[in-house]
Amino acid sequence: MVTAMPNVQGKVAEFLSKPRKMLINGKWVDSASGKTFPTYDPSTGEVLAQVAEGDRADIDQAVKAARAAFDTGPWSRLTASERGRMIWKLGDLLEQHLQEFAELETLDNGKPLKVARAADVPLAVDLFRYMAGWATKIEGNTIPISVPYTPGAKYLAYTLREPVGVVGQIIPWNFPLLMAAWKLGPALATGCTVVIKPAEQTPLSCLLLGELVQQAGIPDGVVNIVPGYGETAGAALAAHPEVDKIAFTGSTEVGRLILQAAAGNLKKVSLELGGKSPNVVFGDVDIDSAVAGSASAIFFNHGQCCCAGSRLYVENDIFDKVVEGVSARAEKIRVGPGMEKTTDMGPLVSEEQLNRVCGYLESGFSEGAKAVVGGKRQGDKGYFVKPTVLVNTHDNMKVVQEEIFGPVVTAIPFKNTDDLVAKANNSVYGLAAGVWTRDIQKAHRIASQLRAGTVWINCYNIFDAALPFGGYKQSGWGREMGHDVLELYTEVKAVCAAL
Ligand code: NAI
Ligand code: MG
Repeated sequence: MVTAMPNVQGKVAEFLSKPRKMLINGKWVDSASGKTFPTYDPSTGEVLAQVAEGDRADIDQAVKAARAAFDTGPWSRLTASERGRMIWKLGDLLEQHLQEFAELETLDNGKPLKVARAADVPLAVDLFRYMAGWATKIEGNTIPISVPYTPGAKYLAYTLREPVGVVGQIIPWNFPLLMAAWKLGPALATGCTVVIKPAEQTPLSCLLLGELVQQAGIPDGVVNIVPGYGETAGAALAAHPEVDKIAFTGSTEVGRLILQAAAGNLKKVSLELGGKSPNVVFGDVDIDSAVAGSASAIFFNHGQCCCAGSRLYVENDIFDKVVEGVSARAEKIRVGPGMEKTTDMGPLVSEEQLNRVCGYLESGFSEGAKAVVGGKRQGDKGYFVKPTVLVNTHDNMKVVQEEIFGPVVTAIPFKNTDDLVAKANNSVYGLAAGVWTRDIQKAHRIASQLRAGTVWINCYNIFDAALPFGGYKQSGWGREMGHDVLELYTEVKAVCAAL
């Protein structure tokens, strides 16, 4: 296995030069077993760094630290305002280190540096700032009660919103830093403590974030970071009896395993899972903007987005034009290493993901699909796949039903609105959807009929820390971001006092 130092200087070079340790109770430590695992640069397939490989024993230590920090540590004695300021500071520190984080993310995940700089890091900064503000605004209610069996008695009744406790967080590799922020922000705002396990493909930015967590003054044991594999470290975290809640983002398949593992102590569970989101283009649109939006709906982040607009439905009369337009855009996308300035699309995250996506392409072709553009791997080094538009597809094909998680869109024509709603909702998933039309009544009517957690009208992939995100059906349980996420990290206590 080749280890090659990529062309980076300063902090990032230094960070990659040593095996990375895990963060438990404020100390950077080796794994209990002494084992490490490699993380790769997907543009070359070469090893980028070695990382401490957490397993059950490490998870156990981390949970103990999080438990102590929650039950008796200084964290629970801080005021909400002090917590809020620390989260804000974390956002500030991240912003100051934007370039380093963007470079590390690009090297570990493969995405273009310009995308990491413009999207991943700033969105994470903004998330921390948004959540910092919530720390002081988590409130209960006073509730008038009229107890029928104690006539005349008076009560003062109110609710408290309290942190759920120790939270286990398992995150994926498609937006490694941003997913860490989505998870850590609300946990810290509500006063929880955390054991977070980054994806084995992309552990580095989460580990670097751990250094900023310390610099922000967040006490030891509040955030513990245990890198490792899903079947070992992840499974141990999901099953741990001292963990009060597990928050997971990843495949629907693993989401089911998390649920089973959580059943032991009935820990609370939130899940953000897969998708197969319909992106619907009506005949009355401005074709150029609908084409541009539909192309970025699928090709952003190489299609490795849970909400990727991977099923493109186009009204019959403009089907050919839209397919031509999206295909022309796909052809212009410059696929290459993320660190190169000219790159628009990097490699897929791993060899496994490359094989999965190419497997789906073969399955599509064997069922009669045709690629207007792309349809295959690019080169033989690194995990590049050409942006692909598939036609001759129908609703029952695997490529139309299953999440591909790569730069592959299936285009299907539709006749009328009724036909469309049924097609769009014909999925086990319900994460997101796009609607392109100039008819505002139609847009809102369709938005109400789509079974999806997010509907974008005349836009796609618009994210904001204030907007809740999550899935209907098998796309998950609960909503992240916005004030809705606070419910996932708090318990409600009703207090009733006789006056
Ligand atoms: P995955 O669901 O296996 O991995 C996501 C996270 O779960 C990682 O941190 C992994 O270590 C952990 N994990 C895996 N098995 C676990 C277990 N038994 N117990 C606890 N944690 C476990 O996803 P994978 O294999 O990387 O990708 C497979 C497919 O999943 C992709 O092709 C895509 O369709 C989907 N996916 C969806 C994501 C989303 O954002 N909703 C993100 C990543 C993948
Ligand atoms: Mg997996």
